[in-house]
Amino acid sequence: MDEESFRIRGFRSNDLNRVKDINLECLPENYSSFFYRDLYRRFPETFLVAEADGDIQGYIMCRIERGLSKLKTLRPARQCHVVSIAVREAYRRRGIATALITRAMERGMENYNASECFLEVRMTNNAAISFYEKLGFSKAKRNFGYYMDGEDAWVMAVAIEKFK
Ligand code: ACO
Ligand code: ZN
Repeated sequence: MDEESFRIRGFRSNDLNRVKDINLECLPENYSSFFYRDLYRRFPETFLVAEADGDIQGYIMCRIERGLSKLKTLRPARQCHVVSIAVREAYRRRGIATALITRAMERGMENYNASECFLEVRMTNNAAISFYEKLGFSKAKRNFGYYMDGEDAWVMAVAIEKFK
């Protein structure tokens, strides 16, 4: 696939409805407008969208958190927590999500000094687990009953220096 076929750029306030629609279409975890705006206000550098065919077709939003490393026990680390990432079905397998998460991690490192990245993913979401593993993420722990319907999550994490 031609690499020029999509473009990654920062989220802007008037992208909100489109991003909310993509989230509703792609994932069962949905959020209020306040939630999106609050993440954007606090961590604008790691809230990105992908444009193709003249419209937004995917997004990533993250929260920067301080806590114990998911990779090296007992070490505090500043972490880029991927709250949500999705690409519309017709635009998958073109590298869009790879570009979104790679750029978000670079910007999380440069702007917020994040040294690792983590996220939760449903244990049955094989596409997303394969995607994260291809990027070098590994399963750090299992969160039992993490989702509203009772499904467990894998917490997956990676060191950001890998992407420099
Ligand atoms: N099956 C197996 N491997 C996959 C799949 C799949 N369905 N999708 C991606 N991969 C792997 C492949 O190795 C792929 O490389 P290849 O195409 O050369 O084989 C590699 O990941 C890179 O894929 P991308 O093209 O960058 O990923 P894409 O843009 O298709 O988006 C995503 C992946 C975000 C998981 C997409 O499938 C999606 O939006 N799914 C629905 C929403 C979702 O599950 N989001 C993640 C939830 S967890 C969270 O948000 C924190
Ligand atoms: Zn999370």
